[in-house]
Amino acid sequence: MCRTKLFSALNLSPGCFINRFLTSKCYLSVGRRLSSFHQGNVLIHDTYLTHKNQCFIKRRLLQNTSLLLLDHKTGKLLPNLPIVNIKRFVSHQQTTDQNRKRILTYATYFSCAIGAVLLTVVGAKEYKKLTRRARGIEKIAEPLLGRRKYLYKYRGYIYDEYIVDHVDKIHHFQIREDDVWVLSYPKAGTTWMEEIVYLIMNDLDIVKARSKIIEERIPFFEYAYPGFKAVTAMESPRIIKSHLPMSFLPKQIKDKKPKIVYVARNAKDTVVSFYHFFKMLKLINYSGNLNDFVDGFLDDKIIYSPWSKHVLEAWKIKDEENILFIKYEDMKKDISSVIQQLSLFLNRPLTDQQIKLIVECTKFDAMKNNPASNYSWMKGWGIKDDKEFLRKGIIGDWKNELTTDQIESIDKMVDTKLGNSSLVFEDK
Ligand code: A3P
Repeated sequence: MCRTKLFSALNLSPGCFINRFLTSKCYLSVGRRLSSFHQGNVLIHDTYLTHKNQCFIKRRLLQNTSLLLLDHKTGKLLPNLPIVNIKRFVSHQQTTDQNRKRILTYATYFSCAIGAVLLTVVGAKEYKKLTRRARGIEKIAEPLLGRRKYLYKYRGYIYDEYIVDHVDKIHHFQIREDDVWVLSYPKAGTTWMEEIVYLIMNDLDIVKARSKIIEERIPFFEYAYPGFKAVTAMESPRIIKSHLPMSFLPKQIKDKKPKIVYVARNAKDTVVSFYHFFKMLKLINYSGNLNDFVDGFLDDKIIYSPWSKHVLEAWKIKDEENILFIKYEDMKKDISSVIQQLSLFLNRPLTDQQIKLIVECTKFDAMKNNPASNYSWMKGWGIKDDKEFLRKGIIGDWKNELTTDQIESIDKMVDTKLGNSSLVFEDK
């Protein structure tokens, strides 16, 4: 105890005592400064040993100094708490060194972690590139697409990144025999057909049809939302929408032969409708004009192109038992007959009354005013506020929009590509 220093600070408040103790003023009165206080024991009133104070003291006390406790009432050394050895408390200098060491260690760990993350990202990118190359996927720059400025060519068709990243998922997707697929090149009247098929398959349950948006009732197969998992989890019979060409449907389609309704629309109305769709989409941010878009359509720089290959693949197998090929123009001309055709194809017989009801529910204006099928849920974040998904819904709008040169170029492409087939569109 000879080297023990007792600071009697009973007249001071705990905070004041500790403060003065540590600022080496208080014990000046007993002739010692904290700096010279390198070894020995410090007696401190137990009341003052709040956690905060202890930590503070620990930081300041010198190595090999011990801490003794005094009973705050009697002022005597507490017998059961003899000496709290604080030898392990390091000097201020040591603490600084240790801090430096600790910072260095953390910095090393941190750089290792960053390095690992970077390596993983670069590695994953390289792996993706290699996998794509091995699959024959070609990357195509399309600056007009704004943020998403790349497209990918796979087996002769143009896709976005999400699709080429999920080639395996698509190929190996589990098909059910009672699935019904609604397929098309975009803007062919897919949504119209979906709504009709939904009503037929759901016994004309209009309440059910209005209870959920069409994207949830009939998921878009190769789109991130609701995604492959959601399609897998659906109850049978599932109705699934897709814009994939026949040659890129899941492999099991060939064996399980689910029913497939393919909708096609004439090239000129398709391209005009598609252009307006691109312009209304906030997600794409297309910066080109109609002329650029027509060029892109003809040069296969638009997703799901080439249009001609897409429609011809379906046309070639139109007579197979599980395929029904419908033209948008025929729907416009006589929708009742198309609904009749669909009811037979889907094995869901309909009365004339029921056909009339479906016609009413799926008229252009009815669907445009139906929040479950007009895509108004995408307004604001996906579709520009002043644009409508159900735009005009007519045959021949191309006459109002395309120049003579554009019409000639598209007609020429159609003649060249479809000329040898029996597929003809009445586009006026
Ligand atoms: P327009 O842009 O020419 O108006 P998809 O559903 O394949 O994206 O096709 C959209 C096109 O089909 C749009 O063409 C849209 O107006 C039209 N359409 C949607 N529902 C329709 C309906 N009930 N009657 C007629 N056309 C419809």
